[in-house]
Amino acid sequence: MDIRTVGVVGLGTMGAGIAEVFARSGFDVVAVEVTAELADQGRARIDKSLSKARDRGRLDPADYDATLGRLTFTANRADLAGADLVVEAVPERLELKTALFDELDGICGTHTVFATNTSSLPVTRLAAATKRPDRVVGMHFFNPAPVMRLVEVVHTVLTDSAVVDTVRELATACGKTPVAVRDRAGFVANALLFGYLNDAARMAETGRRSVDEIDRLVVEATGFPMGPLTLMDLIGLDVCVEVLKVMFDETRDRRYATAPLLTRLVLAGHLGRKSGRGYYSYADGNVTPAVEVPRLNNIAVPDREQPGWVAETLVYPHLDDAVRMLDDNYASREDIDTAMRLGCGYPRGPFALLDELRPPKVADALERLGYSYSPLLRYL
Ligand SMILES: NC(=O)c1ccc[n+]([C@@H]2O[C@H](COP(=O)([O-])OP(=O)(O)OC[C@H]3O[C@@H](n4cnc5c(N)ncnc54)[C@H](O)[C@@H]3O)[C@@H](O)[C@H]2O)c1
Repeated sequence: MDIRTVGVVGLGTMGAGIAEVFARSGFDVVAVEVTAELADQGRARIDKSLSKARDRGRLDPADYDATLGRLTFTANRADLAGADLVVEAVPERLELKTALFDELDGICGTHTVFATNTSSLPVTRLAAATKRPDRVVGMHFFNPAPVMRLVEVVHTVLTDSAVVDTVRELATACGKTPVAVRDRAGFVANALLFGYLNDAARMAETGRRSVDEIDRLVVEATGFPMGPLTLMDLIGLDVCVEVLKVMFDETRDRRYATAPLLTRLVLAGHLGRKSGRGYYSYADGNVTPAVEVPRLNNIAVPDREQPGWVAETLVYPHLDDAVRMLDDNYASREDIDTAMRLGCGYPRGPFALLDELRPPKVADALERLGYSYSPLLRYL
């Protein structure tokens, strides 16, 4: 299967980055927005990113011109007629994405592969709504797409395996590292990340530690690029609640039942960095904790007073989730580590971290803390 021309629909946060990735990798790109004005904004967004790369010496001036020359911006979806692959990055609404694929079915050739960048909608549902279910995949890029190297390539029970191979090769040709997975809520990275983030949200609510202490102790113990509450503020608390809802709906696992205070912060309009306040306040460029929960019980539980308790309580179940994912036969150790390193910026993947901490020690700690854990943990 030969992919030469790629269509990208929706030039917002993700689509602009995805269009840039393909154009920089030598593909002709037809970049589509709803109106000519929005298409112009998309062009400006990509130009800004490319200019920055050029000015910092990361993009040759000649490559800058050539990359822009490979991009066509349009508000006319019929211009996608010649695309070999179309990646949609329109807002996360099922009816919007199915209507788009329905229209593209009538515009594109029968060989054209449709890819969705959805984070949480079932790819199978989108595929089943088209006339080419065997040629629909998920191509889940991470934000910012030009920087983050992970692409989760999602196949459904309907996908032709040759299409999966082509899309994986395409991701590799774009300098990305593909991890191919079945269609399941959260794929690898979000499924693992959000249980841990929700645990941190729950801990913040107990008042046992302040939000900045939780973040600091986790970062010190793991080397993660930031603490969980800072990360939630960055993602957007509303987005976190949405993803948790999708995860909970599919798994019915209480790990994904949204921490009540997290839901209330969203109801209060405290959405994180983008609204100026979430777990932290971002007023006047200063970052200060914005959630304080008074302790209602003063019963001392010695274990919980230990400095290592926060990291054990938040990180060890997170590592156990990775072990469960392996035990579920959803992804290999290597792919799980790759996904968390390249999609979430972890310095080491969960299995590498487990090896360092030693699995029996982690299992003992989980037992002491009163958590259940995967039996596989004792055999790693
Ligand atoms: N933001 C993230 O961090 C992130 C990460 C991974 C995946 N995703 C997924 O990527 C998708 C896009 O998210 P985003 O954050 O870039 O959204 P966004 O709101 O920033 O951008 C969406 C763009 O799509 C355009 N659009 C809407 N309908 C369209 C149509 N019919 N034709 C052409 N353009 C249309 C809008 O004008 C807008 O510019 C979603 O499915 C989201 O779940 C987002």
